[in-house]
Amino acid sequence: MKRKILLIGFISLLTALVLSACTGNDESTAQENSDMEQKSSENMNMNEEESDSMEEGMDHSTMDMDDEAMENGHMSHDEVISLNDSTGENELKIPSVLESDNEEEVVYTVRAQKGETEIFDGTKTKTYGYNGSFLGPVLRFSKGDKVKIRTINELDEETTFHWHGLEVSGEADGGPHNSLKPGEGELIEFEVTQEASTLWFHPHPEGKTSEQVYNGLAGLIFIEDDNSNSLGLPDEYGKNDIPLIFQDKTFDDEKQLNYSAAMNEDGTIGDTSLINGTLNPKLTVNNEKVRLRLLNGSNARNYTFKLNTGDSFVQVATDGGFLNEPVTLNEITLTPSERAEVVIDFSQLNAEDELALINEEDGSILLPFEVSDQSGEDSSIPEEMNDFSITEEVMNLPVTKKVELFGMMDQVTINGKKFDPERIDFTQKQGVTEVWEIYNKPDEMGGMIHPFHIHGAQFKILSRNGEEPPKNERGWKDTISVEPDETVKIAVQFKHKGVYMFHCHILEHEDNGMMGQVKVE
Ligand code: C2O
Ligand code: CU
Ligand code: CU
Repeated sequence: MKRKILLIGFISLLTALVLSACTGNDESTAQENSDMEQKSSENMNMNEEESDSMEEGMDHSTMDMDDEAMENGHMSHDEVISLNDSTGENELKIPSVLESDNEEEVVYTVRAQKGETEIFDGTKTKTYGYNGSFLGPVLRFSKGDKVKIRTINELDEETTFHWHGLEVSGEADGGPHNSLKPGEGELIEFEVTQEASTLWFHPHPEGKTSEQVYNGLAGLIFIEDDNSNSLGLPDEYGKNDIPLIFQDKTFDDEKQLNYSAAMNEDGTIGDTSLINGTLNPKLTVNNEKVRLRLLNGSNARNYTFKLNTGDSFVQVATDGGFLNEPVTLNEITLTPSERAEVVIDFSQLNAEDELALINEEDGSILLPFEVSDQSGEDSSIPEEMNDFSITEEVMNLPVTKKVELFGMMDQVTINGKKFDPERIDFTQKQGVTEVWEIYNKPDEMGGMIHPFHIHGAQFKILSRNGEEPPKNERGWKDTISVEPDETVKIAVQFKHKGVYMFHCHILEHEDNGMMGQVKVE
Protein backbone atom coordinates (compact mmCIF):
# COMPACT_ATOMS: atom_id res chain seq x y z
CA MET A 1 0.00 0.00 0.00
CA LYS A 2 2.78 2.35 0.87
CA ARG A 3 4.17 1.77 -2.57
CA LYS A 4 0.92 2.70 -4.23
CA ILE A 5 0.75 5.97 -2.36
CA LEU A 6 4.33 6.74 -3.22
CA LEU A 7 3.65 5.97 -6.83
CA ILE A 8 0.49 8.06 -7.03
CA GLY A 9 2.30 10.90 -5.36
CA PHE A 10 5.07 10.57 -7.82
CA ILE A 11 2.72 10.48 -10.82
CA SER A 12 1.02 13.68 -9.72
CA LEU A 13 4.38 15.29 -9.24
CA LEU A 14 5.37 14.17 -12.70
CA THR A 15 2.17 15.53 -14.22
CA ALA A 16 2.59 18.79 -12.41
CA LEU A 17 6.14 19.12 -13.60
CA VAL A 18 5.22 18.27 -17.17
CA LEU A 19 2.40 20.81 -17.10
CA SER A 20 4.57 23.55 -15.72
CA ALA A 21 7.40 22.76 -18.11
CA CYS A 22 5.04 23.04 -21.03
CA THR A 23 3.06 26.15 -20.18
CA GLY A 24 3.12 28.75 -22.84
CA ASN A 25 4.15 26.42 -25.61
CA ASP A 26 2.50 25.86 -28.92
CA GLU A 27 -0.18 23.41 -29.91
CA SER A 28 2.03 20.50 -30.82
CA THR A 29 3.59 20.60 -27.39
CA ALA A 30 0.19 20.63 -25.81
CA GLN A 31 -0.61 17.55 -27.81
CA GLU A 32 2.56 15.83 -26.65
CA ASN A 33 1.73 16.96 -23.22
CA SER A 34 -1.63 15.24 -23.11
CA ASP A 35 -0.12 12.12 -24.69
CA MET A 36 2.31 12.06 -21.88
CA GLU A 37 -0.29 12.39 -19.20
CA GLN A 38 -2.04 9.48 -20.76
CA LYS A 39 1.18 7.49 -20.77
CA SER A 40 1.73 8.23 -17.13
CA SER A 41 -1.66 6.99 -16.11
CA GLU A 42 -1.30 3.90 -18.26
CA ASN A 43 1.89 3.22 -16.48
CA MET A 44 0.35 3.67 -13.15
CA ASN A 45 -2.39 1.17 -13.93
CA MET A 46 0.09 -1.35 -15.12
CA ASN A 47 2.30 -0.91 -12.13
CA GLU A 48 -0.63 -1.21 -9.79
CA GLU A 49 -1.61 -4.51 -11.24
CA GLU A 50 1.90 -5.77 -11.03
CA SER A 51 2.94 -4.32 -7.76
CA ASP A 52 2.36 -7.54 -5.88
CA SER A 53 4.63 -9.56 -8.05
CA MET A 54 7.27 -6.90 -8.39
CA GLU A 55 8.64 -7.40 -4.92
CA GLU A 56 11.03 -4.67 -4.00
CA GLY A 57 11.32 -3.36 -7.54
CA MET A 58 8.84 -0.55 -7.06
CA ASP A 59 10.53 1.30 -4.29
CA HIS A 60 13.78 1.77 -5.98
CA SER A 61 12.20 2.51 -9.33
CA THR A 62 10.38 5.40 -7.73
CA MET A 63 13.60 6.58 -6.24
CA ASP A 64 15.37 6.30 -9.56
CA MET A 65 12.89 8.63 -11.18
CA ASP A 66 13.30 11.13 -8.39
CA ASP A 67 17.01 11.51 -8.46
CA GLU A 68 18.07 10.37 -11.88
CA ALA A 69 15.37 10.75 -14.47
CA MET A 70 14.25 14.16 -13.29
CA GLU A 71 17.70 15.45 -12.97
CA ASN A 72 18.51 14.38 -16.50
CA GLY A 73 15.16 15.61 -17.70
CA HIS A 74 14.15 12.19 -19.00
CA MET A 75 10.57 12.98 -18.25
CA SER A 76 9.25 11.28 -21.32
CA HIS A 77 11.36 8.20 -21.03
CA ASP A 78 9.55 5.55 -19.07
CA GLU A 79 12.54 4.18 -17.25
CA VAL A 80 10.22 3.85 -14.28
CA ILE A 81 9.91 0.18 -15.00
CA SER A 82 12.66 -1.68 -13.20
CA LEU A 83 13.83 -5.05 -14.31
CA ASN A 84 12.99 -8.11 -12.29
CA ASP A 85 15.92 -9.70 -10.46
CA SER A 86 17.14 -12.95 -11.91
CA THR A 87 16.48 -15.78 -9.45
CA GLY A 88 19.28 -17.74 -11.12
CA GLU A 89 17.17 -20.86 -11.41
CA ASN A 90 17.96 -21.51 -15.08
CA GLU A 91 21.39 -22.12 -16.56
CA LEU A 92 22.07 -19.52 -19.25
CA LYS A 93 21.36 -20.75 -22.78
CA ILE A 94 24.30 -20.44 -25.13
CA PRO A 95 23.37 -19.82 -28.78
CA SER A 96 24.49 -22.54 -31.17
CA VAL A 97 27.17 -21.81 -33.75
CA LEU A 98 25.89 -22.05 -37.30
CA GLU A 99 27.58 -24.67 -39.47
CA SER A 100 28.58 -23.88 -43.01
CA ASP A 101 26.41 -25.61 -45.63
CA ASN A 102 29.51 -27.18 -47.16
CA GLU A 103 33.07 -27.72 -46.09
CA GLU A 104 34.91 -25.99 -48.95
CA GLU A 105 33.23 -22.62 -48.55
CA VAL A 106 31.66 -20.41 -45.93
CA VAL A 107 28.01 -20.69 -46.91
CA TYR A 108 25.35 -20.04 -44.35
CA THR A 109 21.61 -20.35 -44.66
CA VAL A 110 19.71 -18.00 -42.40
CA ARG A 111 15.95 -18.31 -42.15
CA ALA A 112 13.69 -15.85 -40.38
CA GLN A 113 11.00 -17.97 -38.77
CA LYS A 114 8.00 -17.93 -36.50
CA GLY A 115 7.81 -20.37 -33.68
CA GLU A 116 6.98 -21.09 -30.07
CA THR A 117 9.43 -20.98 -27.20
CA GLU A 118 9.17 -22.20 -23.64
CA ILE A 119 10.49 -19.11 -21.89
CA PHE A 120 8.33 -19.77 -18.83
CA ASP A 121 8.12 -23.37 -17.65
CA GLY A 122 5.16 -25.17 -19.15
CA THR A 123 4.01 -22.24 -21.33
CA LYS A 124 4.58 -21.69 -25.00
CA THR A 125 5.25 -18.12 -26.04
CA LYS A 126 4.89 -17.15 -29.69
CA THR A 127 8.24 -15.83 -30.83
CA TYR A 128 10.39 -15.12 -33.89
CA GLY A 129 13.86 -16.48 -34.47
CA TYR A 130 16.57 -17.25 -37.00
CA ASN A 131 16.94 -20.97 -37.75
CA GLY A 132 14.94 -21.65 -34.62
CA SER A 133 12.09 -20.26 -32.63
CA PHE A 134 13.84 -17.49 -30.66
CA LEU A 135 16.92 -15.34 -31.38
CA GLY A 136 19.52 -16.89 -33.67
CA PRO A 137 22.75 -18.83 -33.95
CA VAL A 138 26.23 -17.27 -33.98
CA LEU A 139 27.70 -16.74 -37.44
CA ARG A 140 31.47 -17.13 -37.33
CA PHE A 141 33.67 -15.50 -39.98
CA SER A 142 37.42 -15.20 -40.29
CA LYS A 143 38.99 -12.10 -41.76
CA GLY A 144 39.60 -12.79 -45.44
CA ASP A 145 36.70 -15.24 -45.78
CA LYS A 146 34.57 -15.02 -48.87
CA VAL A 147 31.16 -15.50 -47.32
CA LYS A 148 27.89 -16.45 -48.94
CA ILE A 149 24.67 -16.14 -47.01
CA ARG A 150 21.38 -17.47 -48.25
CA THR A 151 18.62 -15.58 -46.53
CA ILE A 152 15.06 -16.88 -46.49
CA ASN A 153 12.02 -15.07 -45.18
CA GLU A 154 9.69 -17.68 -43.70
CA LEU A 155 7.63 -15.12 -41.83
CA ASP A 156 4.27 -13.99 -43.11
CA GLU A 157 5.40 -10.39 -43.29
CA GLU A 158 8.23 -8.53 -44.99
CA THR A 159 11.63 -8.52 -43.40
CA THR A 160 15.28 -7.79 -44.19
CA PHE A 161 18.54 -9.27 -42.93
CA HIS A 162 20.83 -6.51 -41.68
CA TRP A 163 24.42 -7.22 -40.59
CA HIS A 164 24.99 -4.59 -37.94
CA GLY A 165 28.59 -3.41 -37.88
CA LEU A 166 29.66 -5.33 -40.96
CA GLU A 167 31.51 -3.44 -43.68
CA VAL A 168 29.74 -4.65 -46.80
CA SER A 169 28.25 -3.04 -49.91
CA GLY A 170 24.92 -1.27 -49.59
CA GLU A 171 23.31 -4.10 -51.55
CA ALA A 172 24.37 -6.70 -49.00
CA ASP A 173 23.67 -4.51 -45.98
CA GLY A 174 20.01 -5.46 -45.54
CA GLY A 175 18.60 -2.01 -44.91
CA PRO A 176 14.96 -1.14 -45.59
CA HIS A 177 15.59 -1.14 -49.38
CA ASN A 178 16.47 -4.84 -49.30
CA SER A 179 13.03 -5.93 -48.17
CA LEU A 180 12.05 -9.55 -48.78
CA LYS A 181 8.43 -10.59 -49.08
CA PRO A 182 7.16 -13.71 -47.31
CA GLY A 183 8.68 -16.74 -48.98
CA GLU A 184 11.41 -14.73 -50.70
CA GLY A 185 15.12 -15.29 -50.28
CA GLU A 186 18.36 -13.86 -51.52
CA LEU A 187 21.97 -14.91 -51.88
CA ILE A 188 24.42 -12.31 -50.69
CA GLU A 189 28.20 -12.50 -51.04
CA PHE A 190 30.95 -10.47 -49.49
CA GLU A 191 34.53 -10.68 -48.34
CA VAL A 192 35.29 -10.14 -44.67
CA THR A 193 37.82 -7.31 -44.64
CA GLN A 194 37.51 -6.00 -41.11
CA GLU A 195 39.22 -7.10 -37.94
CA ALA A 196 38.14 -9.44 -35.14
CA SER A 197 34.99 -8.19 -33.43
CA THR A 198 31.54 -9.07 -32.13
CA LEU A 199 28.80 -7.84 -34.45
CA TRP A 200 25.17 -8.80 -34.73
CA PHE A 201 22.33 -9.19 -37.18
CA HIS A 202 18.69 -8.22 -37.03
CA PRO A 203 15.81 -7.24 -39.32
CA HIS A 204 15.39 -3.72 -40.71
CA PRO A 205 12.06 -3.43 -42.57
CA GLU A 206 10.76 0.12 -42.72
CA GLY A 207 8.58 0.87 -39.72
CA LYS A 208 8.64 -2.72 -38.45
CA THR A 209 12.15 -3.17 -37.09
CA SER A 210 11.21 -2.67 -33.46
CA GLU A 211 8.41 -5.22 -33.46
CA GLN A 212 10.43 -7.89 -35.25
CA VAL A 213 13.44 -7.49 -32.98
CA TYR A 214 11.15 -7.45 -29.97
CA ASN A 215 9.60 -10.73 -31.10
CA GLY A 216 13.03 -12.35 -31.15
CA LEU A 217 14.92 -11.67 -34.37
CA ALA A 218 18.54 -11.07 -33.40
CA GLY A 219 21.76 -13.07 -33.65
CA LEU A 220 25.48 -12.58 -33.18
CA ILE A 221 28.39 -12.50 -35.61
CA PHE A 222 31.93 -13.25 -34.45
CA ILE A 223 34.81 -12.21 -36.66
CA GLU A 224 38.20 -13.73 -35.82
CA ASP A 225 41.59 -12.91 -37.30
CA ASP A 226 45.28 -13.73 -36.76
CA ASN A 227 45.45 -11.18 -34.00
CA SER A 228 42.46 -12.49 -32.05
CA ASN A 229 43.75 -16.03 -32.48
CA SER A 230 47.14 -15.18 -31.01
CA LEU A 231 46.25 -12.87 -28.12
CA GLY A 232 45.61 -15.68 -25.66
CA LEU A 233 42.34 -14.19 -24.44
CA PRO A 234 39.71 -16.65 -23.20
CA ASP A 235 38.25 -18.11 -26.41
CA GLU A 236 36.56 -21.40 -25.59
CA TYR A 237 33.08 -20.72 -26.81
CA GLY A 238 30.41 -21.29 -24.19
CA LYS A 239 33.03 -22.05 -21.49
CA ASN A 240 35.12 -18.97 -20.98
CA ASP A 241 34.00 -16.99 -24.03
CA ILE A 242 30.36 -16.23 -23.41
CA PRO A 243 27.96 -14.27 -25.61
CA LEU A 244 25.36 -12.31 -23.65
CA ILE A 245 22.42 -10.76 -25.47
CA PHE A 246 20.55 -8.51 -23.02
CA GLN A 247 16.91 -7.77 -23.74
CA ASP A 248 13.92 -6.61 -21.77
CA LYS A 249 10.37 -7.64 -22.55
CA THR A 250 6.86 -7.34 -21.20
CA PHE A 251 4.79 -10.50 -21.13
CA ASP A 252 1.00 -10.33 -20.97
CA ASP A 253 -1.22 -12.46 -18.72
CA GLU A 254 -0.94 -15.34 -21.15
CA LYS A 255 2.85 -14.96 -21.12
CA GLN A 256 2.82 -13.70 -24.68
CA LEU A 257 4.81 -10.88 -26.22
CA ASN A 258 2.12 -8.46 -27.20
CA TYR A 259 4.13 -5.77 -28.93
CA SER A 260 1.31 -3.38 -29.70
CA ALA A 261 0.22 -3.44 -26.05
CA ALA A 262 3.75 -3.01 -24.72
CA MET A 263 4.82 -0.47 -27.33
CA ASN A 264 6.01 2.93 -26.26
CA GLU A 265 6.74 5.50 -29.00
CA ASP A 266 9.75 6.62 -27.03
CA GLY A 267 11.24 3.18 -26.77
CA THR A 268 9.64 0.01 -25.50
CA ILE A 269 10.90 -0.97 -22.10
CA GLY A 270 9.93 -4.18 -20.34
CA ASP A 271 10.11 -5.42 -16.77
CA THR A 272 11.40 -8.88 -17.65
CA SER A 273 15.06 -9.36 -18.33
CA LEU A 274 16.12 -12.10 -20.70
CA ILE A 275 19.71 -13.01 -21.49
CA ASN A 276 20.14 -15.09 -24.66
CA GLY A 277 16.40 -15.57 -24.29
CA THR A 278 16.83 -17.19 -20.86
CA LEU A 279 14.54 -16.12 -18.06
CA ASN A 280 16.12 -16.03 -14.58
CA PRO A 281 19.52 -17.07 -15.87
CA LYS A 282 22.66 -17.95 -13.98
CA LEU A 283 26.07 -18.65 -15.44
CA THR A 284 28.32 -21.39 -14.09
CA VAL A 285 31.98 -20.61 -14.70
CA ASN A 286 35.31 -22.15 -13.80
CA ASN A 287 37.69 -20.41 -11.45
CA GLU A 288 39.39 -18.59 -14.33
CA LYS A 289 39.30 -15.55 -16.58
CA VAL A 290 36.03 -15.39 -18.45
CA ARG A 291 35.34 -13.21 -21.46
CA LEU A 292 31.84 -11.83 -21.78
CA ARG A 293 30.71 -10.49 -25.13
CA LEU A 294 28.01 -8.05 -24.09
CA LEU A 295 25.34 -6.92 -26.55
CA ASN A 296 22.59 -4.54 -25.58
CA GLY A 297 19.95 -6.09 -27.82
CA SER A 298 17.07 -4.21 -26.24
CA ASN A 299 14.71 -1.95 -28.14
CA ALA A 300 15.40 1.02 -25.89
CA ARG A 301 16.74 0.24 -22.43
CA ASN A 302 20.23 1.37 -21.41
CA TYR A 303 22.27 -0.94 -19.21
CA THR A 304 25.12 -0.08 -16.88
CA PHE A 305 26.84 -3.36 -16.16
CA LYS A 306 28.54 -3.76 -12.85
CA LEU A 307 29.55 -6.53 -10.43
CA ASN A 308 27.42 -6.56 -7.28
CA THR A 309 30.60 -6.63 -5.19
CA GLY A 310 31.93 -3.50 -6.88
CA ASP A 311 34.95 -5.47 -8.12
CA SER A 312 36.49 -4.26 -11.34
CA PHE A 313 36.80 -6.03 -14.67
CA VAL A 314 38.62 -5.16 -17.84
CA GLN A 315 37.21 -4.14 -21.17
CA VAL A 316 39.13 -5.56 -24.11
CA ALA A 317 36.95 -4.69 -27.11
CA THR A 318 34.49 -2.09 -28.39
CA ASP A 319 31.82 -2.55 -31.09
CA GLY A 320 34.26 -3.16 -33.92
CA GLY A 321 37.53 -4.48 -32.52
CA PHE A 322 40.04 -4.73 -29.69
CA LEU A 323 41.17 -1.75 -27.70
CA ASN A 324 44.90 -1.11 -27.88
CA GLU A 325 45.20 -1.97 -24.23
CA PRO A 326 42.79 -3.38 -21.66
CA VAL A 327 40.84 -0.76 -19.70
CA THR A 328 39.98 -1.47 -16.07
CA LEU A 329 36.43 -0.44 -15.18
CA ASN A 330 33.96 -0.73 -12.33
CA GLU A 331 31.01 -0.35 -14.64
CA ILE A 332 30.19 0.06 -18.28
CA THR A 333 27.13 1.59 -19.91
CA LEU A 334 25.82 0.24 -23.20
CA THR A 335 22.99 1.91 -25.09
CA PRO A 336 20.91 -0.16 -27.52
CA SER A 337 23.01 -2.08 -30.05
CA GLU A 338 26.38 -1.19 -28.50
CA ARG A 339 28.73 -4.08 -27.68
CA ALA A 340 31.69 -4.50 -25.41
CA GLU A 341 33.90 -7.44 -24.59
CA VAL A 342 34.96 -7.61 -20.97
CA VAL A 343 37.03 -10.11 -19.02
CA ILE A 344 36.24 -11.01 -15.43
CA ASP A 345 38.95 -12.87 -13.55
CA PHE A 346 36.98 -15.17 -11.27
CA SER A 347 40.20 -16.59 -9.80
CA GLN A 348 40.84 -13.18 -8.23
CA LEU A 349 37.39 -12.76 -6.74
CA ASN A 350 36.24 -13.92 -3.35
CA ALA A 351 34.43 -17.21 -3.88
CA GLU A 352 32.50 -16.63 -0.64
CA ASP A 353 30.67 -13.72 -2.20
CA GLU A 354 27.51 -14.30 -4.13
CA LEU A 355 28.67 -12.81 -7.39
CA ALA A 356 26.34 -11.35 -9.97
CA LEU A 357 26.28 -8.98 -12.84
CA ILE A 358 23.84 -6.21 -12.02
CA ASN A 359 22.30 -3.30 -13.87
CA GLU A 360 23.39 -0.18 -12.05
CA GLU A 361 20.58 1.82 -13.73
CA ASP A 362 17.96 0.19 -11.49
CA GLY A 363 19.95 -2.08 -9.19
CA SER A 364 18.49 -5.24 -10.68
CA ILE A 365 20.33 -8.55 -10.67
CA LEU A 366 20.89 -9.58 -14.27
CA LEU A 367 23.11 -12.63 -14.06
CA PRO A 368 24.21 -14.46 -10.92
CA PHE A 369 27.48 -16.39 -11.32
CA GLU A 370 28.22 -19.77 -9.85
CA VAL A 371 31.97 -20.21 -9.64
CA SER A 372 33.12 -23.84 -9.58
CA ASP A 373 36.46 -24.76 -8.00
CA GLN A 374 37.77 -26.05 -11.33
CA SER A 375 40.69 -23.95 -12.41
CA GLY A 376 39.97 -23.94 -16.16
CA GLU A 377 42.10 -22.57 -18.96
CA ASP A 378 45.27 -20.62 -18.74
CA SER A 379 44.33 -17.51 -20.62
CA SER A 380 45.73 -14.02 -20.39
CA ILE A 381 44.94 -10.42 -21.07
CA PRO A 382 47.85 -9.01 -23.04
CA GLU A 383 48.97 -5.44 -22.44
CA GLU A 384 48.93 -4.74 -26.17
CA MET A 385 46.02 -5.90 -28.23
CA ASN A 386 45.65 -3.63 -31.24
CA ASP A 387 47.08 -0.78 -33.27
CA PHE A 388 44.06 1.51 -33.41
CA SER A 389 45.13 5.11 -34.04
CA ILE A 390 43.86 8.48 -35.16
CA THR A 391 46.25 10.48 -37.28
CA GLU A 392 46.92 14.17 -36.81
CA GLU A 393 45.55 14.72 -40.29
CA VAL A 394 42.21 13.13 -39.44
CA MET A 395 42.11 15.01 -36.13
CA ASN A 396 42.36 18.27 -38.05
CA LEU A 397 39.81 17.56 -40.74
CA PRO A 398 36.94 20.04 -40.89
CA VAL A 399 33.42 18.90 -40.06
CA THR A 400 31.71 18.07 -43.37
CA LYS A 401 28.53 16.34 -42.16
CA LYS A 402 26.29 17.62 -39.40
CA VAL A 403 23.64 15.50 -37.78
CA GLU A 404 21.18 17.01 -35.33
CA LEU A 405 19.15 14.55 -33.31
CA PHE A 406 15.98 16.00 -31.88
CA GLY A 407 12.66 15.14 -30.34
CA MET A 408 10.90 12.37 -28.59
CA MET A 409 8.00 9.97 -28.98
CA ASP A 410 6.86 10.06 -32.62
CA GLN A 411 8.17 13.61 -33.05
CA VAL A 412 11.76 12.50 -33.58
CA THR A 413 13.82 13.91 -36.42
CA ILE A 414 17.33 14.11 -37.83
CA ASN A 415 18.21 17.57 -39.11
CA GLY A 416 14.54 18.45 -38.77
CA LYS A 417 13.42 15.68 -41.13
CA LYS A 418 11.90 12.27 -40.90
CA PHE A 419 13.10 9.29 -42.91
CA ASP A 420 12.15 9.26 -46.55
CA PRO A 421 13.37 6.25 -48.53
CA GLU A 422 13.34 8.41 -51.68
CA ARG A 423 15.61 11.07 -50.20
CA ILE A 424 19.39 10.85 -50.00
CA ASP A 425 20.54 13.03 -47.11
CA PHE A 426 24.30 12.87 -47.58
CA THR A 427 26.78 11.67 -50.14
CA GLN A 428 30.30 10.56 -49.37
CA LYS A 429 33.13 9.17 -51.48
CA GLN A 430 34.17 5.56 -50.97
CA GLY A 431 37.44 5.32 -49.05
CA VAL A 432 37.48 9.00 -48.05
CA THR A 433 37.41 9.91 -44.37
CA GLU A 434 34.99 12.63 -43.34
CA VAL A 435 34.25 14.11 -39.95
CA TRP A 436 30.63 13.87 -38.88
CA GLU A 437 29.41 16.01 -36.02
CA ILE A 438 26.51 14.55 -34.11
CA TYR A 439 24.57 16.90 -31.87
CA ASN A 440 21.71 15.91 -29.57
CA LYS A 441 19.53 19.01 -29.32
CA PRO A 442 17.66 19.18 -26.01
CA ASP A 443 13.95 19.93 -25.90
CA GLU A 444 11.87 21.76 -23.29
CA MET A 445 12.05 18.74 -21.06
CA GLY A 446 15.76 18.23 -21.38
CA GLY A 447 15.78 15.49 -23.93
CA MET A 448 17.13 12.00 -23.78
CA ILE A 449 20.08 9.91 -24.85
CA HIS A 450 19.97 8.82 -28.48
CA PRO A 451 22.24 5.94 -29.51
CA PHE A 452 23.49 6.95 -32.97
CA HIS A 453 24.43 4.25 -35.47
CA ILE A 454 25.79 4.24 -39.02
CA HIS A 455 25.53 1.24 -41.32
CA GLY A 456 28.38 -0.22 -43.34
CA ALA A 457 31.23 1.38 -41.42
CA GLN A 458 33.22 1.22 -38.24
CA PHE A 459 34.15 4.75 -37.17
CA LYS A 460 36.40 6.52 -34.67
CA ILE A 461 35.32 8.93 -31.97
CA LEU A 462 37.44 12.10 -32.23
CA SER A 463 35.88 14.01 -29.37
CA ARG A 464 32.95 14.30 -27.01
CA ASN A 465 32.10 17.93 -26.30
CA GLY A 466 35.57 18.83 -27.49
CA GLU A 467 37.29 16.45 -25.10
CA GLU A 468 39.10 13.24 -25.82
CA PRO A 469 36.69 10.29 -25.49
CA PRO A 470 37.09 8.02 -22.46
CA LYS A 471 39.78 5.33 -22.76
CA ASN A 472 37.28 2.55 -23.34
CA GLU A 473 35.90 4.35 -26.40
CA ARG A 474 39.25 4.65 -28.14
CA GLY A 475 38.50 1.83 -30.52
CA TRP A 476 36.23 1.04 -33.48
CA LYS A 477 32.60 1.96 -32.94
CA ASP A 478 29.43 1.69 -35.00
CA THR A 479 27.02 3.02 -32.38
CA ILE A 480 27.58 5.78 -29.84
CA SER A 481 25.46 7.18 -27.07
CA VAL A 482 24.83 10.89 -27.45
CA GLU A 483 23.60 12.69 -24.34
CA PRO A 484 21.26 15.68 -24.48
CA ASP A 485 23.23 18.77 -25.54
CA GLU A 486 26.27 16.69 -26.31
CA THR A 487 28.31 17.07 -29.50
CA VAL A 488 30.30 14.07 -30.68
CA LYS A 489 32.75 14.22 -33.55
CA ILE A 490 33.48 11.02 -35.39
CA ALA A 491 35.73 10.11 -38.32
CA VAL A 492 33.82 7.99 -40.82
CA GLN A 493 35.11 6.10 -43.82
CA PHE A 494 33.12 3.68 -45.98
CA LYS A 495 35.04 0.84 -47.63
CA HIS A 496 32.20 -0.01 -50.01
CA LYS A 497 29.61 1.71 -52.15
CA GLY A 498 25.89 1.85 -51.69
CA VAL A 499 23.12 3.54 -49.79
CA TYR A 500 23.45 3.20 -46.03
CA MET A 501 21.19 4.15 -43.15
CA PHE A 502 22.22 6.23 -40.18
CA HIS A 503 19.79 6.39 -37.30
CA CYS A 504 18.92 6.38 -33.65
CA HIS A 505 19.07 2.79 -32.38
CA ILE A 506 16.14 3.21 -30.03
CA LEU A 507 14.15 1.03 -32.39
CA GLU A 508 10.89 2.92 -31.98
CA HIS A 509 12.69 6.17 -32.81
CA GLU A 510 14.15 4.52 -35.89
CA ASP A 511 10.70 3.28 -36.94
CA ASN A 512 9.28 6.74 -36.23
CA GLY A 513 11.64 8.22 -38.81
CA MET A 514 14.76 9.14 -36.85
CA MET A 515 16.82 7.85 -39.75
CA GLY A 516 18.62 9.24 -42.77
CA GLN A 517 20.54 7.89 -45.74
CA VAL A 518 24.08 8.39 -46.94
CA LYS A 519 24.98 7.42 -50.48
CA VAL A 520 28.54 6.27 -50.89
CA GLU A 521 29.86 6.46 -54.46
CU1 C2O B 1 21.40 -2.33 -35.79
CU2 C2O B 1 20.17 0.06 -38.72
O1 C2O B 1 20.83 -1.14 -37.33
CU1 CU C 1 23.27 -1.40 -38.50
CU1 CU D 1 16.41 8.26 -30.20
